[in-house]
Amino acid sequence: MTNKITIESLSLQYSDGTESLRGISMGIRQNAVTVLFGPAGGGKSTLLRCLNRLNDLTEVKASSGKILIDGENILDPQIDVIALRRKVGMVFARPVPLPMSIRENIIYGLELAGEKRKSKLDDAVERSLKLSAVWDEVKDRLNDPAIALSGGQQQRLCLARVIALQPEVILMDEPTSGLDPISTGKVEAALLELKKEYTVILVPHSIQQAARTADHAAFFLQGELIEYDDGKKMFTTPKQKKTEDYIMGRFG
Ligand SMILES: Nc1ncnc2c1ncn2[C@@H]1O[C@H](COP(=O)(O)OP(=O)(O)OP(=O)(O)O)[C@@H](O)[C@H]1O
Ligand SMILES: [Mg+2]
Repeated sequence: MTNKITIESLSLQYSDGTESLRGISMGIRQNAVTVLFGPAGGGKSTLLRCLNRLNDLTEVKASSGKILIDGENILDPQIDVIALRRKVGMVFARPVPLPMSIRENIIYGLELAGEKRKSKLDDAVERSLKLSAVWDEVKDRLNDPAIALSGGQQQRLCLARVIALQPEVILMDEPTSGLDPISTGKVEAALLELKKEYTVILVPHSIQQAARTADHAAFFLQGELIEYDDGKKMFTTPKQKKTEDYIMGRFG
C-alpha cells in the first residue's frame, strides 16, 4: 500500500501561544480510512485544517514541518490553494446545505468550475448521491429544497457535494456528531464505498465509531501523536499506556 500523504515534523502554534501540534510525523495510506482520535484539544481538527490549508484563515503564530501530498509540499506558500481544496475536500460536523435544491447543491461547484453539459451534471448528481448513501431517499425529489431534508440526509448531501468535485482526499471532522444512530450507520456504510476510490481521514465522534471504521488509527493527546497503528491492533492491544487508558475510558 502506498502513502498518499506524508506528514513530516509538523508543529503549529496559535497566536495565543497554544502549541497545538508538536512534531507530528505520519504517513497516510491511500484507499483507507485513517482515524484521528483522542480527547478534546488534542489537535485533531487543527491537523485536518492543515491538510487543506484552512488554517490559513486562523491566527497561526508559527508552524514548521512539511505535508507532502503526492510528493508535493502543500505548506509551500507557492502552491495553488484553490486547487488544493478541490483535491482535498472537507465535511464538517454540522451540515450546511446551500439555500437551493438538492440537485443544485451538488452541481453548484461543478458549474462554477465551468461544466455545462447536462449529461455530465446528471451523472455527477447520481454518482455522488449514491456514493454518499442518500440516493434512494432523494432520487424522486431532486428539485426540492435541500433544507427540507433531515439532518442526517443533509449531512450525506454535503458529503455528496464534496464527492461531486472529484477530490482525492476527503477530510471528515466529526461528521456524525449531530446524527441519530441510523443516519450515523449510513454515513459509516458510505465510508466503506468511499475508501475504494479515495483517501479518507476521519475524526470520529466516539471511540466506538473509531473502532468500527478505522483501517489505521492515530491517537492524539495535547498536540502529540502518542500512537499510530493498524485500527484493529489499536483498539484491541494498544501499545502505549496512555492510549489504553483513554480507550478503556479512564480519562477523556
Ligand atoms: N483558532 C484557534 N486559535 C487559538 N487556539 C486554537 C484555535 N483552534 C484550536 N485552538 C487550540 O488548539 C488546541 C487543539 O485544538 P483542536 O481543535 O485542534 O483540538 P481537537 O483535537 O479537534 O479537539 P475536539 O475533540 O474538542 O474537537 C486546543 O488547545 C485549542 O484550544
Ligand atoms: Mg475538533
